[in-house]
Amino acid sequence: MKKGFIIAIDGPLASGKGTIAKRLAAVLQGVDLYTGAMYRGLALFCLEHSIDMENASSVIDQLSKITFKYQKDKIFLNDTDVTQKLQEPEPAAGSSVVGVIPEVRQDFVKRQRILGLEQMEAGNIVIVEGRDIGTVVFPDAALRLYLTASEEVRAKRRLAQYKEQDSSWTFEKVLEDIRERDTRDKERKTDPLASNPEKLGYTVLDNSEMSEEQTIDAVIRMLKERNLIHD
Ligand code: DC
Repeated sequence: MKKGFIIAIDGPLASGKGTIAKRLAAVLQGVDLYTGAMYRGLALFCLEHSIDMENASSVIDQLSKITFKYQKDKIFLNDTDVTQKLQEPEPAAGSSVVGVIPEVRQDFVKRQRILGLEQMEAGNIVIVEGRDIGTVVFPDAALRLYLTASEEVRAKRRLAQYKEQDSSWTFEKVLEDIRERDTRDKERKTDPLASNPEKLGYTVLDNSEMSEEQTIDAVIRMLKERNLIHD
């Protein structure tokens, strides 16, 4: 049987993690585990059930009511396909609010470890993408990558995505949204996004000036250098 391993990809909002994780999974015939979907999914569930996301104990009460299923490119929340809905601005904004609650994080970290290990033990290359994957969820991952890009580049990328759904978004509004969410991700007490990724042993890749293709090539090179894959 093939030997499975984990690639952890962390980094700030709109740094290209999702796109790169999906494409890597296709190139390597591996599986992609998008962990932000859990935080977004919980926010969506709270929005749909009028739960105040600032009220931690109400949010924690919802954890036992939700299940996630990952199937190919689709994500199911309680057996409903929410793949598209999770990309809307409201669950996106809510995700960083529920993501500061330690009990939420502990619960999701457990779920992510189970899903990732199951896939790895089945012999798959598992690309796990989030904020705390290389620090908390899979600190022993075969490659711990920190993908980043300048704020301006990230705002441009996110604006293009939001505009498809709602034309009232402007560059300035997206930039402000990105700064606010980066701050929440980096300053939360439990499992923050690394502010000093090099010091924590991540391989840092700034893709501000790189195409998707170049980013994929760079990651493939890293995997070859580590003898994780061969020509
Ligand atoms: O990657 P994303 O934008 O879909 O993540 C949504 C939010 O969830 C983001 O504010 C950070 C949070 N998140 C997290 O705290 N830990 C993860 N492993 C993944 C996402």
